[in-house]
Amino acid sequence: MRVAAIVLAAGTGSRAGLGAPKQFRTIGGESVLRRSLRLFAAHPRVAAVQPVIDPAYKSQLDEAASGLPNLQKSVAGGATRQASVLAGLESLASKAPEFVLIHDAARPFASAALIDRAIDTVAAHGATTPALPVADTIKRVDHSGRVTDTLDRSALRSIQTPQAFSFQPILDAHRRAAAADHNYFADDAALAEWAGMTVTTFEGEAGNFKLTTADDFLRAQAMDAQLLSDVRSANGFDVHAFGPGDHVVLGGVRIAHSRELVGHSDADVLLHAITDAILGTISAGDIGHHFPPSDPRWHDAASDQFLKHAVQLVAARGGRIAHLDATILCEAPKIAPHAEAMRRNIAAIAGIDVGRVSLKATTTERLGFLGRGEGIAAMASATVRLPWSD
Ligand code: CTP
Ligand code: MG
Repeated sequence: MRVAAIVLAAGTGSRAGLGAPKQFRTIGGESVLRRSLRLFAAHPRVAAVQPVIDPAYKSQLDEAASGLPNLQKSVAGGATRQASVLAGLESLASKAPEFVLIHDAARPFASAALIDRAIDTVAAHGATTPALPVADTIKRVDHSGRVTDTLDRSALRSIQTPQAFSFQPILDAHRRAAAADHNYFADDAALAEWAGMTVTTFEGEAGNFKLTTADDFLRAQAMDAQLLSDVRSANGFDVHAFGPGDHVVLGGVRIAHSRELVGHSDADVLLHAITDAILGTISAGDIGHHFPPSDPRWHDAASDQFLKHAVQLVAARGGRIAHLDATILCEAPKIAPHAEAMRRNIAAIAGIDVGRVSLKATTTERLGFLGRGEGIAAMASATVRLPWSD
């Protein structure tokens, strides 16, 4: 294995003072921890991601990690950031990666390009950290706040994560620091310096700020809105005819009925319409294009996998589903008693809050093929938010 990443999330977030630790707060509907994990889990050059958490928050981690690839089993952090890093390194030791990236979960806006720079720099020059020039003048003050001197700003850098190291040397350095009770290092670069390693810098990112105070979350919300400002909506429509049977499946919910919907898959007309609407937002064709009816694999298939696939395509674009709205058109069965179960099911499949799923039903006043009870139709619209890519 060449590159592993440690995502540190075992802190208490005391300065943010938000109740639960800051890494479990959501920004734009996604937890800070999930954003940070996703960044590395989705990066093609990172083979394994090691989350470090406080085991008291295991269920929050499970939620944040759900569906992400390349994640290792989480390990418990320690009383200091440094101890948490060591726990992460020890847990990766058996995998013997060549390089390790160490990242604060509290920096959810690092970009894939920044991770690329970290890997390129560590491979070429060894231990390295992202750094930015300091814009403000920096002064040293005494206990009373009186200025004692003004530092030379040109020689100062503001330091970020992910910091990158050759794995074995940084593990050895951390073990030595722990054995010597040197437990005061603010970051891994400082510990590496103490161990005698040469630490280089590469260009950081202004957007890769660390969520530290409650105010930082306001900035984060604004940044999220700005990042995902390519808002798109599209529609989907589907019809299935009735045949003999005793139930229908709508929105993944089985409803007893005197007839069954005929189709190659489970004929879940509602999930098909929603899937097509989502595919429409990214101009990715239609459901038949992705799951050809001629392919025996989709015979009697449960339609949640079609919806999941469309959701994953949006996620792969760095996008997020903002809202789903659908209408079922039929004379029978009655939809209202099952609408809440359908909404919950659709929300779970799409990985969004149930408040972002709307479901309505109507008859067609006995007019037309729907009015004659020959089948069920569904129409849907999806709204997604994508990062601007052009
Ligand atoms: N961290 C950790 N283990 C610790 C302390 C911190 O894994 N014992 C992690 C935090 O979860 C965070 C990162 O290290 O992702 C950077 O630390 P910091 O921003 O200081 O977070 P907290 O220590 O949680 O916040 P505070 O210092 O305000 O309490
Ligand atoms: Mg801290």
